[in-house]
Amino acid sequence: MAIKKITPKEALVVAIKATRLAGDIMNKYSSREYAIKNKAPKDLVTEVDIKCEQVIKEAIYEVFPDHGVLAEEGGGRNMEKLCRWIVDPIDGTTNFAHGFPMFCSSVAYEEEGQVLAGAIYDPVRDELFTATLGGGSYLNSRPIVVSSTNRLAESLLATGFPYTITTEKINNIREFADMSMEAQAVRRPGAAALDLCYVACGRLDGFWEFHLQPWDVAAGVLIVQEAGGAVTDDKRQPINIYLRKIVASNNKIHEEMLQVLGRA
Ligand code: IPD
Ligand code: CA
Ligand code: CA
Repeated sequence: MAIKKITPKEALVVAIKATRLAGDIMNKYSSREYAIKNKAPKDLVTEVDIKCEQVIKEAIYEVFPDHGVLAEEGGGRNMEKLCRWIVDPIDGTTNFAHGFPMFCSSVAYEEEGQVLAGAIYDPVRDELFTATLGGGSYLNSRPIVVSSTNRLAESLLATGFPYTITTEKINNIREFADMSMEAQAVRRPGAAALDLCYVACGRLDGFWEFHLQPWDVAAGVLIVQEAGGAVTDDKRQPINIYLRKIVASNNKIHEEMLQVLGRA
């Protein structure tokens, strides 16, 4: 039987429910003991990541049992690509494991390669960022737009580094140094999905990173675009969430960011 396509609004309802359920679990476990393991050097996974992924998948499969799920901690029940959910159960796991309050859950819905809806929930601040394709972006149901800062020198930016920082050739250290000289300031908050939301609502003017996975950015890219922002790769090409490199901004400082990144 053919898989049923759905509307962006139908997808958003499920994405919101799923991210909130994961957020409740993060809040519950923040004051409890839980197991922490290394997937690789520097790269942690906690028992809470696994529990969050489980509730998110259940929330999706309950409504759309034949849809695919691409999720960070274990893949999905099927990898159907036509109608697929892209899930980061906890973005900012290192922060979560240290009690540093900057983490979230991220759920996006993609149809034939196009993201139609996304929700990102920050359980610490009870902030829910959402977007649907063509429908705008929202923070706790209020419309959001990117900042109007038009000079890099006046911009607050964020970035991140890969877990493979010690072995990676392009590890973002030179770019971080160059950008720190040119921008007003650069932060490294540690949750890429929230960094993108902060660009979307104007708390940041821009964000870049080089080794991200689709689950880090799928929902956040749509949230930035629907808030009026620009998202490309580091070579001015339209963003492809499967190709790891991302530069997001309020549009106005995009070219300046790309030029500085091109120097390294
Ligand atoms: C990480 C965070 C971090 C970014 C890393 C990601 P995780 O995701 O988004 O900010 O710098 O590249 O892997 O592992 O916490 O889900
Ligand atoms: Ca992540
Ligand atoms: Ca994660």
